[in-house]
Amino acid sequence: MNNFEFYNPVRIVFGKKTIPTVGKFIPKGKKIMLLYGGGSIKKNGVYDQVLRGLKGRNFVEFSGIEPNPLYETCLRAIEKIKTEKIEFLLSVGGGSVLDATKFIAAAACYEGDPWGILTTGGIRIKKALPLGDVITLPATGSEMNCGSVISRKETQEKLPFSHPLVYPLFSILDPETTYSLPKKQLRNGLVDAFVHVLEQYATYSVNTPLQDRQAEAVLRTLIDIAPDVIQKQDYDSRASFMWAAACALNGSLCCGVVEDWTTHSIGHELTAFFGLDHAESLAVVMPALWQHQFENKKDKLAQLARRVWHITSGDRDFQARAALEKSVEFFHSIDMPTRLGDYKITQADTQKIVDRFAKRGSIMGERQNISAPQVEEILKLCL
Ligand code: NZQ
Ligand code: ZN
Repeated sequence: MNNFEFYNPVRIVFGKKTIPTVGKFIPKGKKIMLLYGGGSIKKNGVYDQVLRGLKGRNFVEFSGIEPNPLYETCLRAIEKIKTEKIEFLLSVGGGSVLDATKFIAAAACYEGDPWGILTTGGIRIKKALPLGDVITLPATGSEMNCGSVISRKETQEKLPFSHPLVYPLFSILDPETTYSLPKKQLRNGLVDAFVHVLEQYATYSVNTPLQDRQAEAVLRTLIDIAPDVIQKQDYDSRASFMWAAACALNGSLCCGVVEDWTTHSIGHELTAFFGLDHAESLAVVMPALWQHQFENKKDKLAQLARRVWHITSGDRDFQARAALEKSVEFFHSIDMPTRLGDYKITQADTQKIVDRFAKRGSIMGERQNISAPQVEEILKLCL
């Protein structure tokens, strides 16, 4: 097991009817900004519940944060924070609203060009406004981590940052908020959480039996609940979904293990250039990455096949291939496409992604063996 440091200060408030308790968790006397997206919270009653929780509190609103939140929108929020002298941020919505809120929290206190937060991955952050959230979409795990991903329209870029100062003080997870989610967002959430676990698992073993079993538990849970999540409005499966998505990326599965975030890095470019939903991009890249890195990943993939998919026949290569096929089958079973062709994207279209990785000089993969030429090969396998 590799050395690690684990810190997660997020207070999780989980369950039915928890949203109106939100005021209890926001420090008294602070001027609050309530941030939300395109209006789903007004249609499903979440907004009204939050307002009940904020009764008697001093707050202003900022709405219109889009999926794959834009840097340009965040800058507008920061202006309002300065004129209104805001002291606490409350995000209500999916991962996009929360990611924007985290960026805004840091950028409002940042000296210099806020884009610098993203080009340096967050390392220069010295201060941030405190924040909390009500999460309404199980997917990103943003409610229990200190990461955020921001897109810039002007340059078609999508970049992540992380910093412990943007951990939410609290996250309210009421599974009933998910009843209003369209099937497409449920499917996206299942795939995003599934891939988060695998980016921390499908590498090579450094003897982490507990973390492996924890990862496999989250994966198996997602597979088991997926049919009910998609087809029913059933509290138990939605509750498991919400907790599984948070646990998939709350920093516990990666303790002491070797990670590979190549799927996300290439996926972000597919979203930035072609507008694929985040999870759609992952479902295209991950199978191709596994195929490309088969020799390097096959031990863990075979373990995945045995323990998660219960495949006990055949040798290691057979089992590793079965893990790949089963994962693709799982994506298809919830109507998630796995090919660039499904989005009418051609090899010529993807050249700008390869050029971008070359320009950045990115080196990825658990063995640091993936740079622009390998990205080109992986993208070919995605077609
Ligand atoms: O804007 P509104 O009207 O609220 O509608 C949203 C949006 O259109 C809607 N929605 C959310 N909750 C709903 C709902 N509709 C009905 N009922 C509800 N309860 O769903 C749409 C998508 O929302 P969005 O927040 O964009 O989805 P998601 O939570 O999947 O977030 C995606 C973003 O998170 C980033 C992605 O890159 C992407 O930008 N990620 C963040 C991570 C993190 N912070 O750790 C890790 C992930 O890997 C990911 O990169
Ligand atoms: Zn993701």
